[in-house]
Amino acid sequence: MSGSTFGKLLRVTTFGESHGPALGVVVDGFPAGVAVTESDIQEYMNRRKPGKNPLSTPRSEGDTVEILSGVFEGRTTGTPVAMLIRNTNQHSSDYEAIKDTYRPGHADFGFDQKYGFRDWRGGGRSSGRETAARVAAGALCQLLLKRLGIDCYAYTESIGSVKIDPSAFERSAITETATGMPDRDADRKAAELVAAMAGEKDSIGGTVVCIAEGMPAGIGEPVFDKLDATLSHAVMSIGAVKAVEIGDGITVSQKKGSENNDPFIPGGNGRIEKKTNHAGGILGGLSDSSPILLRAHFKPTPSIASVQDTVDRDGQAVRLSVGGRHDPVIVPRAVVVVECMCAIALADALLIGMSARADDIAAFYSGNS
Ligand SMILES: Cc1cc2nc3c(=O)[nH]c(=O)nc-3n(C[C@H](O)[C@H](O)[C@H](O)COP(=O)(O)O)c2cc1C
Repeated sequence: MSGSTFGKLLRVTTFGESHGPALGVVVDGFPAGVAVTESDIQEYMNRRKPGKNPLSTPRSEGDTVEILSGVFEGRTTGTPVAMLIRNTNQHSSDYEAIKDTYRPGHADFGFDQKYGFRDWRGGGRSSGRETAARVAAGALCQLLLKRLGIDCYAYTESIGSVKIDPSAFERSAITETATGMPDRDADRKAAELVAAMAGEKDSIGGTVVCIAEGMPAGIGEPVFDKLDATLSHAVMSIGAVKAVEIGDGITVSQKKGSENNDPFIPGGNGRIEKKTNHAGGILGGLSDSSPILLRAHFKPTPSIASVQDTVDRDGQAVRLSVGGRHDPVIVPRAVVVVECMCAIALADALLIGMSARADDIAAFYSGNS
């Protein structure tokens, strides 16, 4: 099993290695009639690609997306949407040194144990580059969410000890700052921290927050496919994510029920609303129409240039300094990856949610007869 498919009705399958000819994705089950161009998808690809600013690895991957199928006359046809991203800037020789050596913090050892050998060039399927294909699929799902009036966006909340000030939140800064922070002052401080880490041949971790506004209530499935469970699955499957929180997350274990519960209140137009949103928009695994709030914790980039202890394939002790072109922090490039994985999980949940009520199914088919 390679576990390369995510989703139930909307099935996203990614393929390709970082140093092979190309990466790609097939999105099956995507509804017909959504207007899409390659430049709509490319906009998201550009947010992920490296080499854009001093915080990012100097690898200059083009990350140009080609739509191969499933789109005709500018609209999805309902057939599988296949998208390809050709690899153009591989430096496989950078990885010769780790061919027979296990990088601490990376997937090398596990891959050898599982398969008996591995594509050591750039990390193969465990490369951060694999996420380019996820972004292409997520960009497509974002078009569907927008059509439904759902605004799903992510940003960098913290890098190391530098955290954004929520009162300085500026949405446009997310795509304008090098860190992906919506707070320009915090961005400056975080950029200094990242530069210091690079100077020390080290790396640093951080957090990404994703928010989805406009989700209708009742989306998600009550037992194994709770919305918080499927969102966590989607985001935890991104390389280097080590924890996912929903709403107030880990802080709830220290709260009283009276502090943590969100009182329901009558809203406008007969709507039911909540006074607060500690739950992060999900109760019982179902959306409750408040914004969905998710936080992903990223570990520091494992490939670092400082010397570390490790072993080779024969178990002999080795001193290793990882060369090549690695980000001193993963978070800024991962913002759009988190956003896109959430968009995929939400789009799938919305499609599944359409079959919950017999009345809705009957109304749909009577309208079509
Ligand atoms: C967008 C993105 C970029 C990444 N870039 C790098 C990198 O340049 N060097 C590296 O060692 N790891 C990088 N990673 C992290 C590895 O892919 C990840 O740590 C590795 O596969 C081991 O998996 P785990 O951390 O989930 O255990 C990146 C991850 C993402 C999501």
